[in-house]
Amino acid sequence: RRVPAAVNEPVRSYAPGSPERAALQARLTQMSNETIEIPLVIGGRRIQTGDIGTVNNPCDHQQVLARYHRATPALVREAIEAAATASADWARWRWEDRAAVFLRAAELLTTTWRDTLNAATILGQSKTVHQAEIDAACELIDFFRFNVQFAQDLYHEQPLSDHAMWNQLDYRPLEGFVYAVTPFNFTAIGGNLPGAPALMGNVVLWKPSATALLSSWYTMQLLEEAGLPPGVINFIPGDAAMISDIALTHRDLAGVHFTGSTAVFNSMWKTIGGNMNQYRSYPRIVGETGGKDFIVAHPSADPQALAVGMVRGAFEYQGQKCSAASRAYVPASLWPVVKEKCIAMMAEIKQGDVRDFSNFVGAVIDERAFTRLKGALDDARANASIVAGGGSDSSKGWFIQPTIVETKDPSYRLLCEELFGPILTVHVYEDAKWKEILTTVDATSPYALTGAVFSRDRHAVQEAMVALRQSAGNFYVNDKPTGAVVGQQPFGGARGSGTNDKAGSKSNLMRWVSTRTIKETF
Ligand code: SER
Repeated sequence: RRVPAAVNEPVRSYAPGSPERAALQARLTQMSNETIEIPLVIGGRRIQTGDIGTVNNPCDHQQVLARYHRATPALVREAIEAAATASADWARWRWEDRAAVFLRAAELLTTTWRDTLNAATILGQSKTVHQAEIDAACELIDFFRFNVQFAQDLYHEQPLSDHAMWNQLDYRPLEGFVYAVTPFNFTAIGGNLPGAPALMGNVVLWKPSATALLSSWYTMQLLEEAGLPPGVINFIPGDAAMISDIALTHRDLAGVHFTGSTAVFNSMWKTIGGNMNQYRSYPRIVGETGGKDFIVAHPSADPQALAVGMVRGAFEYQGQKCSAASRAYVPASLWPVVKEKCIAMMAEIKQGDVRDFSNFVGAVIDERAFTRLKGALDDARANASIVAGGGSDSSKGWFIQPTIVETKDPSYRLLCEELFGPILTVHVYEDAKWKEILTTVDATSPYALTGAVFSRDRHAVQEAMVALRQSAGNFYVNDKPTGAVVGQQPFGGARGSGTNDKAGSKSNLMRWVSTRTIKETF
């Protein structure tokens, strides 16, 4: 290998009394006491439009953390031109020199930038310190380092030749720009969606989520400090519909790297399909979208492991991971003991402002999410039964209490529709109907992102593996369905959950190159 083999970044614990905890808290306090200005970045230039939106703290919604400038249509077009200008140079860099930018970004994240990105993720996205650390620090570092290793593997793959003939694969960047649209729920995805195409020599228009702008803006600055040339990634906050309309109908659109809702992704395909004649090449469309991730338990499951999997899988980060468990199928023989264990664990969960590091659950991202989830709780009160939780409080922040709902109806709305919040709906089935329940789970999986089976019976594990083969892109046996680690569990789903071009993988990077085959005879 010419680059060092990637290893996963160790997770720091920020234990009480530790210097790392004190340093992070100091950065958090500082960030909490300021309101920063977030500009657009086009060709390396900071641009303020005066059309202002605010970034608020979900745990304290009156607190304005930043004022950001929204793009105008003219500036979106200017950003596409700036990308084209940068491409002339960037696409010709040796790949090792591009890799160096991302290796340096990873290194900066192990030192000076770690507290900044963690604090921004805690404050702006309401992550607990641990959830921020595994995302904004570890996963982002891992994306940068593993992508470099995967890129090297890819570039070194060459076909057979002989003494009279030399065959080569030339892994060209795409012609045009990649449009990266990033979600609020992972700071690391904010870095990876523009970062992976850029590593492969592409230029990018990056539309960050309005509710993750604090961490996205710092990620942009981190990449600049690491040596990313101006114009390679252009940072364009603003109205998603307007920006997408310009980007997706532009002749130079070469690809889309998206994480967000299924509805938005579907509308992107439609726009691209409707404009098919005007692109230079078929745009690469890569996306990770919705989910309705499941846990299914066999009567042989270990009740303790199952209860822990349910509570952690459903409630960490307020159930706002794309991978979060939001429905569980539990056999009647196990349910009384599992229910009791879940209720006991949930009674221990502390919820509140994530600046207090002892809280395990924070607020949901914004008012829209709060209203949607509160509506779901009302539905549960009327049409099912609430086993634990059920409360909500928006007086200071957008707090939805971790909640378990129980239903007898396998087609109940909350058991089937994506909610994206801390609500786990449980369907209790008769033990004898194990095989039927597997069929039900598959039939109610228009999404197929993550899923888990809990069983101590190997034969039952095997049955679930087969019956649910197409129901999840990431499948877990006796573990919660969240927390995929780059390089260990490549992440992505099929069906309504996306194109399954696993994040942080060689197959993902291949979407950002267009190979030229060269045959030379001697
Ligand atoms: N990779 C994350 C997880 O597995 C989701 O994006 O939880």
